[in-house]
Amino acid sequence: MAALYQPTLDMLAATVAASIGARPHLGSGDKNLVDQAAVDAMRASLRGADFGGIVVIGEGEKDEAPMLFNGELIGAGQPLDWDIAVDPIDGTALAARNEPGAVSVMAAAERGSMLETTEVYYLKKLVTGAAGFGVVDLDLSATQNILALAAALDMSPTDVRVAVIDKPRNADLIAEVESTGATWVRFAEGDVAMAVAAALPNSGVDLLLGVGGAPEGVVTACAVRCLGGFMQARFAPQTPDEIERAMMADYDLEKKFELLDLVGGERLSFVLSGVTEGIFTPGIVEDFEANELVVQSLVIDHNSTAPNFVEVRVEQA
Ligand code: FBP
Repeated sequence: MAALYQPTLDMLAATVAASIGARPHLGSGDKNLVDQAAVDAMRASLRGADFGGIVVIGEGEKDEAPMLFNGELIGAGQPLDWDIAVDPIDGTALAARNEPGAVSVMAAAERGSMLETTEVYYLKKLVTGAAGFGVVDLDLSATQNILALAAALDMSPTDVRVAVIDKPRNADLIAEVESTGATWVRFAEGDVAMAVAAALPNSGVDLLLGVGGAPEGVVTACAVRCLGGFMQARFAPQTPDEIERAMMADYDLEKKFELLDLVGGERLSFVLSGVTEGIFTPGIVEDFEANELVVQSLVIDHNSTAPNFVEVRVEQA
């Protein structure tokens, strides 16, 4: 494994802490309880971080969920070199039901390099692997993109697997994807892991389309850049209130964001740790013999050429 940036190592510790913090509440039915436990554990872990940064992408405002606040400082006394994006649990509703797909996620990039999204909660997203460059485009229809990607990947359109988050706002898109004969990879929550899967070869997902969370989109962009994948996005406000706030903040709602608009700079880190069973990682596993909890993570930064799958063992209290 290539040497990882210090933030990556601290973020690995923080997402593992969040995952284990949430564990007692998995299946409790209370998503705020799950989120709060993960936030508390992540925050406590980051207190000892050996890098300095500012949380620019928190998560939770939309649902008034517990969160690490935008503007919160990470790393006592360190120079504030990093923009930090956190999603202590992506898929809190899944975690509250102890269903597959919940993960804990963090990303970091050079200070000032992450797109500011606080006023709009949603982005229209397109993510695929390196084959997507010059082939797919956010402004093409789903049908055109599926046909073009199939040709680029030398596969039949009916073999293309397209992940779209299952929300009413994406219903027409899902119907169009299915009408092409491509496989719709259905998931109810958690579009970070699915988007990262779309950027990774042989993951079971070739393309992610649809409108999902904006903070999750910026977190995703960090991973997609590290993986050399393709991503575009555009703000997709869902309510008049969101549109008004976007206007007041001078957001460009027409702009098609390329990957470098979503996150710029050279230095990038991304960590995803399993909470419940997921596309990359099993949920938290209990090793009874060793009296340890085992958490699997996908870890990638700009120093590494390939994603690393890391297992962290934590002694059970
Ligand atoms: P949280 O668990 O952090 O609330 O997010 C889950 C999620 O499914 C994201 O993965 C996705 O981007 C977003 O919510 C979509 O928002 P909404 O649930 O409002 O459609």
